[in-house]
Amino acid sequence: MGIFWTKNDIKDLTGKVAVVTGGNSGIGFQTSLALAEKGATVVLAVRNLNKGNDAVDRIKAVVPQANVNAIKLDLNDLKSVRAFASEFKNNYKSLSLLINNAGIMLPPYRSTEDGFESQFGVNYLGHFALTGLLLETLKKTPNSRVVSLGSLAAHKAKPEFSNIKGSKKYKPLKFYSQSKLACMFFAKELQYRLRSHHIACKSIACHPGISKTSLLSRNTKLTNKLTRYSVRLVGQSAEMGALPILYAATESSIRGGEYIGPDGRRGGKGYPTELDILDNLFVDHVANNLWTLSEKLTGVTYRF
Ligand SMILES: NC(=O)c1ccc[n+]([C@@H]2O[C@H](COP(=O)([O-])OP(=O)(O)OC[C@H]3O[C@@H](n4cnc5c(N)ncnc54)[C@H](OP(=O)(O)O)[C@@H]3O)[C@@H](O)[C@H]2O)c1
Repeated sequence: MGIFWTKNDIKDLTGKVAVVTGGNSGIGFQTSLALAEKGATVVLAVRNLNKGNDAVDRIKAVVPQANVNAIKLDLNDLKSVRAFASEFKNNYKSLSLLINNAGIMLPPYRSTEDGFESQFGVNYLGHFALTGLLLETLKKTPNSRVVSLGSLAAHKAKPEFSNIKGSKKYKPLKFYSQSKLACMFFAKELQYRLRSHHIACKSIACHPGISKTSLLSRNTKLTNKLTRYSVRLVGQSAEMGALPILYAATESSIRGGEYIGPDGRRGGKGYPTELDILDNLFVDHVANNLWTLSEKLTGVTYRF
């Protein structure tokens, strides 16, 4: 390994199956491309199959021998999450890497098909359900890992997971930060539960710093345009933003339960490193209550 960890440090992944949610765009696309370059079989879990198949073509243009495929997954709808899990399990017998990457940021208020505020529903609850539905496959795959995406925005968030529908007082940034903090708590709590059941699968959280992607381009409000402009000025490439995910997914020194992010000033850019911020933010009983609530809301019960 050089001084800075890059995708060149990833070992051969031939024979490993990876699922990348939102693998058609931004950080998810760069993650999928790097995994395919190293020989993994990659399933892009996408809400729009046209975009997914286009991403498959873009990966194959770089890696002609890539084993890559797109399957429909709309995290806005738990029926779609269940359908994805069944289709995946019918077609693949192992799952080495589940990358819970897809996300939305600062949309106007709307609710998911199941009645949750959309950021909390898509970014967190959909991934909670997906991981639970794929747990059996993760358990039987040696050295499997689940990687969940947090955010710098969550570092100042308070762990309050009570106004799940958000209909009373919707503040887009607050809900985004809460959804990302929930993903980070989930990653740590999952690791705790896997370990206490003596299951070898590892769960890791990470964040991509500030990366130039289309995350903020779906909303035309002036504040979002200004934020997007600042991201363009100070952000790093999506390829760099993918490194914390790739490190969490493949680095051999990972034990499970870490939080990985860029090593640069204020965490906005740089090469992947282990951070202690999640250990400081984490509150056991809140994570435990969030888990119980999530099982109830999604109807997905984890069978360790
Ligand atoms: N960029 C940053 O600076 C930054 C910072 C912190 C955290 N993050 C996190 O990084 C992750 C990737 O974001 P990105 O920056 O790469 O943004 P992006 O380019 O907008 O990618 C987001 C991906 O999520 C997919 N997605 C959105 N809603 C979905 C749904 N209902 N079901 C399934 N997939 C859905 C999108 O699909 P479509 O293409 O069909 O819309 C897209 O593939 C997100 O979790 C985000 O919160 C990003």
